[in-house]
Amino acid sequence: MDAPALDAFWMPFTPNRQFKAQPRLVVSARGLNYRTADGREVLDGTSGLWCVGAGHGHPLIAEAMKRQIDTLDFASSFQVGHPGAFALAERIAALAPPGLDRVFLVNSGSEACDTAMKIALAHARARGEGQRTLFIGRERGFHGVGFGGISVGGMLNNRRAFGGAMLRADHLKATWDPHWNGTPRAFVRGQPFEGAELADELEARLIALHDASQIAAVIVEPFAGSTGVLVPPVGYLQRLREICTRHGLLLVFDEVITGFGRLGAMFAAQALGVVPDMILFAKTVSNGAAPLGGVIVSRAIHDTLMQGPAHLAELMHGYTCSGHPLACAAGLAMLDVIEDEDLLARVRDLAPHFEAAVHTLADAPGVVSIRNIGLAAGIELAPVAGAPGRRGAAAQAAAFDHGLLTRAPGDTLVLAPPFISTRADIDRMAGRLRTAIQSTHGALA
Ligand SMILES: Cc1ncc(COP(=O)(O)O)c(C=O)c1O
Repeated sequence: MDAPALDAFWMPFTPNRQFKAQPRLVVSARGLNYRTADGREVLDGTSGLWCVGAGHGHPLIAEAMKRQIDTLDFASSFQVGHPGAFALAERIAALAPPGLDRVFLVNSGSEACDTAMKIALAHARARGEGQRTLFIGRERGFHGVGFGGISVGGMLNNRRAFGGAMLRADHLKATWDPHWNGTPRAFVRGQPFEGAELADELEARLIALHDASQIAAVIVEPFAGSTGVLVPPVGYLQRLREICTRHGLLLVFDEVITGFGRLGAMFAAQALGVVPDMILFAKTVSNGAAPLGGVIVSRAIHDTLMQGPAHLAELMHGYTCSGHPLACAAGLAMLDVIEDEDLLARVRDLAPHFEAAVHTLADAPGVVSIRNIGLAAGIELAPVAGAPGRRGAAAQAAAFDHGLLTRAPGDTLVLAPPFISTRADIDRMAGRLRTAIQSTHGALA
């Protein structure tokens, strides 16, 4: 393909003017590597965008999608159905924690979050508790970009321009504090052992302030991914669960990043031993090959909403492409791949090596913190004075030039390798990240 003109595409979450002055175009991908327009290989250190656990161009997924488009290209899921959507929902329900076995399909994580929020509101109303309209999220949480997601999310820059349009929400403190009780703990391997009591704020401050009767749901990521891998202390999620149960609140896990293997279990709920009332998923479910997401809902919530006249939809919600045949084919094939290639066990096996590799970066210049869990790590750099995010952006660009795709929320560089990575691949990622950090450090000191 000829080099395209870059003007018309308004790129999402991208400094457009800067990108278009210095574009980074990828034109193909296989396994762990992207190929750039100028023929270089770039190691995918972020699974695309937390999506491509099974590696790029997986033949089984491609074949399944090809078969599907040749058989049934499109069918709406409004009042008609096709087998793929039912089959996918059954498979996901069987993989989810006990009690969560009803699946609403959507096309993205943002839609999954807004869908779960609507289900929570409708559930409250169906129980005669229509006053429950407040959502509790967490500072530095990310739940996509719908108005529900940005309201319950805790990323200031995603909210600032849209302030007046927010839903009612309040927020727990982030689970990350580099000076826990005055003790520096910037370099933590896995879950910190101290700090579960951060969850107590839900009861001591937020329920005390708003009253439980007002709260529709508590929505958190098992670990915060998009703000640089903020890992919850051991016991934190258990405490949130206990408080929610005690006060009759719905607990929702946003597993858009963690769902389908990132922590070596199908869901973080299983890896971390806490069962919420709803689970949001997207990204890895289709290996990124098609837009696909969803909400796994407890039978109890679902059944509460199965009422009213039988000829009317029980939930007035859905998207034209909910349960799209191609996305479902990709999802079903990905579930086969996860099973056939034993990807969950591979993640569990690789995670300790990954942890060791990312922590070797502790002595790279300007590194102030490293956190990791499963196959996810955040390597935080000291910001340039007065220009937060500048060092991260420079290191991210340099990493790409050195053959590594990483992400830089602010000044944190994120690694989230595909599940099929080998130990040697992980070492290469850490090495290229070190080179990128070193090569930009001096220039921005
Ligand atoms: C935890 C979480 N929730 C929701 C989303 C939004 O997903 P999408 O971009 O598919 O709308 C993301 C995206 O990164 C995410 O990390």
